[in-house]
Amino acid sequence: MNILFTHIKELLQTRPKSELKVVGTAMKKLPHIKNAFLRIQGDTILDFGTMDDLVIQETDEVVNVTGKIILPTWCDSHSHVVYAGDRSQEFVDRLNGLSYEDIAAKGGGILNSAQTLQDTSEDALFEQSMERVHALIQLGTGALEIKSGYGLSTEAELKMLRVIKAIKETAPLKIKATFLGAHAIPKKYKNNKQAYLDLIINTMLPEIHTQKLADFVDVFCEKGYFSLEDTEQILEAATKYGLVPKIHVNQFNAFGGVGLGVKHKALSVDHLEVLNTEDLEVLKKSSTIPVALPGCSFFLGIPYTPARKLIDGGMALAIATDFNPGSAPSGNMNFVVSLACIKMNMSPEEAINAATLNGAYAMNISEQYGSIATGKKANLIITKNMTSYRQIPYHFGNNPIHKVMINGEFVN
Ligand code: NIG
Ligand code: FE
Repeated sequence: MNILFTHIKELLQTRPKSELKVVGTAMKKLPHIKNAFLRIQGDTILDFGTMDDLVIQETDEVVNVTGKIILPTWCDSHSHVVYAGDRSQEFVDRLNGLSYEDIAAKGGGILNSAQTLQDTSEDALFEQSMERVHALIQLGTGALEIKSGYGLSTEAELKMLRVIKAIKETAPLKIKATFLGAHAIPKKYKNNKQAYLDLIINTMLPEIHTQKLADFVDVFCEKGYFSLEDTEQILEAATKYGLVPKIHVNQFNAFGGVGLGVKHKALSVDHLEVLNTEDLEVLKKSSTIPVALPGCSFFLGIPYTPARKLIDGGMALAIATDFNPGSAPSGNMNFVVSLACIKMNMSPEEAINAATLNGAYAMNISEQYGSIATGKKANLIITKNMTSYRQIPYHFGNNPIHKVMINGEFVN
């Protein structure tokens, strides 16, 4: 099937296929073509340019999108979209004065989600998660990383990873799977954390490797969860199985997690609400990409990742949803782009670069996703009529999307 879009008001994020991320001050530029055409063949971008340069060829379908903007679909590089039930009661507890940490200390939080997930059948978990994934596609997400980490037993972690695999095989969008067995210390290992680390290293990792259930490994490196030493044990074991680290660091405390991630060649270090000078220095010299999760800062009322320090300091930055039932119960990338502008002082150009090509880089898929380039996947957002792409972050909370195309097919 050949599709030709004509009269595109602005075709955004047009870059050479070889450009795999946008770094530092270059993030201020969002290359685009006004009054453009875009040709799709099958699931691939074939050609694009200005309407003046359009050469008439035989086409199966011509779509005139006068007044509308086309951009690559969002690449959400950090989510926990596979979970069971919800934690709206804890949300109300927080409104009544308890902190996120207080709730976790009482045995709620991640352990609460783990209990619910263990009590939920694999089929039900798949159905609940797929419903969320379909909603995310309608909101413009075309590539999504999904973590395990609400299982916290071998059986339940494998169940989560099988559900992620089933989503990958069923849903049209691109999925990457991350093993996050070290998300919290299960109740029964409360007084023997090393035994849980041994279970992850000696039982879970080999099984996940044999069944090819994960691309990446993650650890919640944080006070009260997993220390630098714990994190290092897991990263060392996981990298032997070919899993690339993408880790939760510096959400509440900065104590060297960034440096440890860089040392282990992490693809990304995520959260970074608290960042010190050493972290910035070490990141700057690495190819590890920082990922900010502004939806989590918004929902928990914690500081936002200092985007200006990162970008003005010459680093790349990606933004993602962190969609999960405890700290960020929304997977809406349009809102995340707004938050990045409103709360992190990023320009619309920086935020869109962070949510597309840099998001793809943070999943190691930017050779195929995240920009408009000949030969890349035809994953597109066609916006409603708007005067400029600046209206995407400006009208926060609105849905800017008219249609979404994944692999060359309209999904709504
Ligand atoms: O990224 N910080 C660790 N994990 C999630 C929250 C998990 C939860 O509260 O269920 C996060 O914010
Ligand atoms: Fe997270």
